[in-house]
Amino acid sequence: MIYPHISKHLFEQNRIKLNNKLPKQSIAIITSNDEMPRNGDQFFPFRQNSDLFYLTGIYQEKTMLVVCPDHPNARFREILFMVKPNKEMETWHGLKMQKAEAINISGIKTILWEDEFEKIIAELVSFNNTFFISTCENSKVASKIETSDLRMVEYLSRRFPLHRKERLAPIMTELRLKKEPEEINIIRHACQITGKAFERTLKFLKPGMYEYEVEAELTHEFLKNGASGHAYYPIVASGENACFLHYVTNKNQCKDGEMLLLDFGAEYANYAADCSRTIPVNGRFNKRQREIYDATLNVFRKSRQLMVKGTSITLIQKQVCKLWEEEHVKLGLYSMEDIRNQDPEEPLYQKYYMHSISHFLGLDVHDVGNKNSILEPGMIITCEPGIYIREEGVGIRLENDILITQAEPIDLMQNIPLEAEEIENLMKSS
Ligand code: GLY
Ligand code: MN
Ligand code: MN
Repeated sequence: MIYPHISKHLFEQNRIKLNNKLPKQSIAIITSNDEMPRNGDQFFPFRQNSDLFYLTGIYQEKTMLVVCPDHPNARFREILFMVKPNKEMETWHGLKMQKAEAINISGIKTILWEDEFEKIIAELVSFNNTFFISTCENSKVASKIETSDLRMVEYLSRRFPLHRKERLAPIMTELRLKKEPEEINIIRHACQITGKAFERTLKFLKPGMYEYEVEAELTHEFLKNGASGHAYYPIVASGENACFLHYVTNKNQCKDGEMLLLDFGAEYANYAADCSRTIPVNGRFNKRQREIYDATLNVFRKSRQLMVKGTSITLIQKQVCKLWEEEHVKLGLYSMEDIRNQDPEEPLYQKYYMHSISHFLGLDVHDVGNKNSILEPGMIITCEPGIYIREEGVGIRLENDILITQAEPIDLMQNIPLEAEEIENLMKSS
């Protein structure tokens, strides 16, 4: 991973917060993600489990954190298990982390090799009643793959059937939702890199280019600036492809007269940025495109102002749907009369706006957090209104990342060009 040193103080502080939330006589276990097989002897690039990174700063496979705050022996209150480096493995895959390095990054003093886990856990259990295990609870994940956290649940059930098991996810969600100043700075940096990639695209794009060429430019700018890559598969969708919300094939030609929807974000030091812009392929919006663009910008601005402490994404969404109704009527998509006669179970706006205005952002692009959670200073959420008019082959989404504060929301992407005229001028001058 390429990023400057993150102070171990952040990870130490995060573990203190965890200890304060754990009930007495608990052991928390957080496993790293598995390496995912690709083909032959290849794995997909490794991505650390976000909870484990949040608590340790360690980005290496086969790592496990065990936290046991009440153990009488201070040495056993925080233990990091890691893969033991060996010559054969290092010859092929490069150097693995030594204990001193792991101590330096995480601030954890007890580092053991992974093959010591079974012996140590057997010693810890007699002081504790309950295991807290970090499992993924994202409602959108419906994977059939057996994960390391679920294997741990099974192992503990078999080996210690009379101990209780509890969900760690609610605690981790509460902790990760509110960002420390150091985390906010990292996300700011991810946003800056994302902005540079957008400006590069404005200079680069010409009619006839392929969507994947634009993707390559984004990737180039990300890597050149120290990002590890994309925080998620980028959407580079020209013309009607923009109406498919998760279009990621990026294989079509960008044609004169069409618009190009970009949904892209750098991942920097494991934190995500998430941005969307929609631009004219030939550098100038036509009259209808400009009308729809300005309607989206209007909803964007009004929605961003709603992102204040004390409300929730669910409540904001309700207001945004009303904003969209007004704009849809102005755009001639349906009339006020149609709204009065609509089926309340299937409101008309849903045909053109069918996703949420926002989600939490952090180590994961769709970060932990429930849409009914009350917004508090230090949380970062997206603001992403969109309009998708299939019958006109037009889709527009604008998206910035917003920091909730004690007062006005802070737009972490306020320097990334957004106004239609600003975009046209930048495209003209290239
Ligand atoms: N990039 C995915 C999203 O905007 O939620
Ligand atoms: Mn996005
Ligand atoms: Mn988003």
